[in-house]
Amino acid sequence: MKSTYSQIIQQAQGFARSVHDRDASGHDWWHVQRVTRIARLLAYLEGANPYICELSAYLHDVADEKLNESKEAGYERVQHWLKQAGVEASDQETVLEIISTMSFSGGTGRAMRTLEGQIVQDADRLDAIGTIGIARTFAYSGWKGQSMYDPYIPLREHMTREEYRKGKSTAINHFYEKLLKLKDKMNTESARLLADGKHQSLELFLQFFDKEWAMGNEAYLNESPIHRGNVSLVHITFDDSTAGSLRMMLRSKPGEIVITLDDDLMVGPLPKDHDFSHSFSTRNEWFQERYSITHADDRKLTMLQAAFAWLTLPQQLNELPCLIWAGDSASEQLGLRRLLSLIPDHLDVRLVNATSIHRQQNPNSWYRGTFEMASEKLQIVMDTSEEHVPLSPQDQAGYRADWQRLVNDDGFLRVLQGEELRTVPESYYDADILQAAYRLEARHGFFKKSARIIGEVIGMGELTVSDSFIEYRVRHLIQEGALTYNGELTAMRNYCISLVDASTPEERWTHAQRLAKVVKLKSLMSEMMEIHFAERGLMEEIHQLDTVGLGLSISSDLEAFTSSMQSQIDRLLSTYQQHQEQRVSFLGSLEKVLTQIDEKAPKE
Ligand code: ADP
Ligand code: NI
Repeated sequence: MKSTYSQIIQQAQGFARSVHDRDASGHDWWHVQRVTRIARLLAYLEGANPYICELSAYLHDVADEKLNESKEAGYERVQHWLKQAGVEASDQETVLEIISTMSFSGGTGRAMRTLEGQIVQDADRLDAIGTIGIARTFAYSGWKGQSMYDPYIPLREHMTREEYRKGKSTAINHFYEKLLKLKDKMNTESARLLADGKHQSLELFLQFFDKEWAMGNEAYLNESPIHRGNVSLVHITFDDSTAGSLRMMLRSKPGEIVITLDDDLMVGPLPKDHDFSHSFSTRNEWFQERYSITHADDRKLTMLQAAFAWLTLPQQLNELPCLIWAGDSASEQLGLRRLLSLIPDHLDVRLVNATSIHRQQNPNSWYRGTFEMASEKLQIVMDTSEEHVPLSPQDQAGYRADWQRLVNDDGFLRVLQGEELRTVPESYYDADILQAAYRLEARHGFFKKSARIIGEVIGMGELTVSDSFIEYRVRHLIQEGALTYNGELTAMRNYCISLVDASTPEERWTHAQRLAKVVKLKSLMSEMMEIHFAERGLMEEIHQLDTVGLGLSISSDLEAFTSSMQSQIDRLLSTYQQHQEQRVSFLGSLEKVLTQIDEKAPKE
């Protein structure tokens, strides 16, 4: 009996191969082979009859109407084959029932009665999704002569079988019309689990396709395969991290979309949108000359993508309600100003400053920018605050003027001080870098990884500047002789740095070397201050102790010891007094020197 089964399977394989060998309509031989393989495994996992599963899988597309004169003719073809192959009568019936339910139902017909049928159907559906499903869809589209995507061929929501076959569609539309629905139609648990990962491939593919369709596209919001003009609100962010959190938050609101206008606006010459190409190359060169060559291509690509976004997206926003997410960070505030100067006539722009709202609600916790806030936090801001301030024409004009002011500054670094954006010299963070080196004990002769010091600088303040910028300044400080290094000055992980004591005569010290001295003095002073205050506290406590309070006099044996102790404390206190006076006067002079240096310091 067993050998007959395997002979029949062999014959079925040969038959299916001869039927499907030259097919280009999505029913090629390898599709049938894959479905059979999957069906066989599912049969084991689900405890079904593997013979029936395999036989039905091999034959499942033989009767397809595309390969036959009519569906009836296809059905008869299978029926005839089963008979001549010597398949048992009851098995013939089961297989025919499976095949007719599968290929004539078009996904809307009656449910599959047998477990074997459910399995073959699951296997066929699994082969329609995932990357193979994607490939088959485009192959089928080519075969049928339909385009891969046309934004103006609408999705068909409810269609009859006739419309499904004959109506106008595109490969991308087919995702929405059929493929994305398949994961919820699996019959068996095993197939349902397998479908999940393959479904994700479909989603990812659509996301990437959409992103590429957006590239350079001034009609993106209308043409997007994902949004298709169904946009009720545009959330605007100035970095990918905020955009990611917002997308999570908005998962159940398909009409609300998130766009990112990213650009490292804190650093480098500002882009001038009225003279884009010139200012873009100036900006590019600025980074080129300063930033490390490692990851240079990544950086250039990021700038390129930013340019694409800034050049095509703002003009599409004019007819749409916009919600701008700009927290209290320089990059977001700069993005806000640049955007508003590009959409001067917009009537429906609102602003949400999530960091400031969060701070009002939680005075003890704060974020450096919206980009640090997780989607749950943004949700709270969204739910609890009424302060999504509509921007009045005056407000907008104010932001535009401020952008103009910053552009006119022609500077290379901008920071947020309080509410105000200020253009500052490139050397703005140099003292922080030197101080971090000092604090991490990267002092003369002791080397510390550059990455570590950069991490310390970024972590220490309200810094939102990129580590690439700080790394550039580290290399600059090396060049100026304020830091020394060993290793390779390529990526910041590849070298170590140390503060250097200039051995050159004073009149030839660079600005950076002078700064290093000052930072060293300041660090010394503040360390000494700390010790000073700690020691003073200790001494006061010791002063208040008396030996009686120590409880040592209980035993008369200890009386001698106690009195010697008391005299030692008295001596300690009196020398401390002297020491303290000297230190206070020293700190005083140190401070005076430092103020003088600060006043004289040449501004770079
Ligand atoms: P089945 O009936 O086995 O599901 P179909 O004949 O419907 O197979 O489709 C064969 C392949 O072509 C499948 O991968 C399917 O997703 C794809 N396909 C079917 N209709 C379209 C269409 N209108 N546009 C693009 N691909 C399609
Ligand atoms: Ni099939």
